[in-house]
Amino acid sequence: MRRIVYTADDIARRVHELGEEITRAYPNGELLVLGLLKGSFIFVSDLVRQVRRPLQIDFLVASSYGDATVSSGNVRLLYDPETRLEGKHLLLAEDIVDSGRTLNRLVDLLRARNPRSLEICALLHKQIASELRHPVRFVGFDAPTEFLVGYGLDHAENFRHLPYIASLQ
Ligand code: IMP
Ligand code: MG
Repeated sequence: MRRIVYTADDIARRVHELGEEITRAYPNGELLVLGLLKGSFIFVSDLVRQVRRPLQIDFLVASSYGDATVSSGNVRLLYDPETRLEGKHLLLAEDIVDSGRTLNRLVDLLRARNPRSLEICALLHKQIASELRHPVRFVGFDAPTEFLVGYGLDHAENFRHLPYIASLQ
C-alpha cells in the first residue's frame, strides 16, 4: 500500500451526495438498484441508505473476461436477478470503470430486458474508457489511473475490507 487516495470520510461524504443526486433524479416509477458483484458490495450498501425514495436492490454476478486483451464476446451472468426488470428504472452500480468493457456488455444485455430507463452509477471512474458506449450518469470520483484497492475493490481478492481506498502503485 503506497498511498491513501480516498479516506473513509471522503467516501462517506461523496456517497451521501450521490444518494441525494439519485433521490432527485428519480421522481417517480419503480427503481431497482443492481449492484455488480463483488466489487460494489460495500458501495451499494452505503449508497442505498442515502437514497430517500422507495427502491429495490438486487445484484449481478458477471463472468470476468480474464485476459484483458479479449475485448469482445458475450458476458455471461453467473447470477441473474430474480426480479422482473421490465418497466423499472434500472440503476447499475459498479465499483470502478476502467476500460469500460464490462459495462458495455452488461448494458447491452440489460437493455434487451426492456427497462423503463437504464443508468450507470460508478463510485470511481478512471476516465480512460475510450470504448465505453454508455455515459456514466453518476460518478463518485474521477480516479487516478493507478491500481486501487479497498472499499470493495480487490487485488487478487485481497483488500476488499479496507474502509478507505488506496493505491498499490
Ligand atoms: P473494465 O471492464 O476494464 O472497465 O473493468 C472494470 C472492472 O475491473 C472493475 O469492476 C474491477 O473489478 C476491475 N478493476 C479495474 N480497475 C481496477 C482497480 O484499479 N482496482 C481494482 N479493480 C479494478
Ligand atoms: Mg476485481
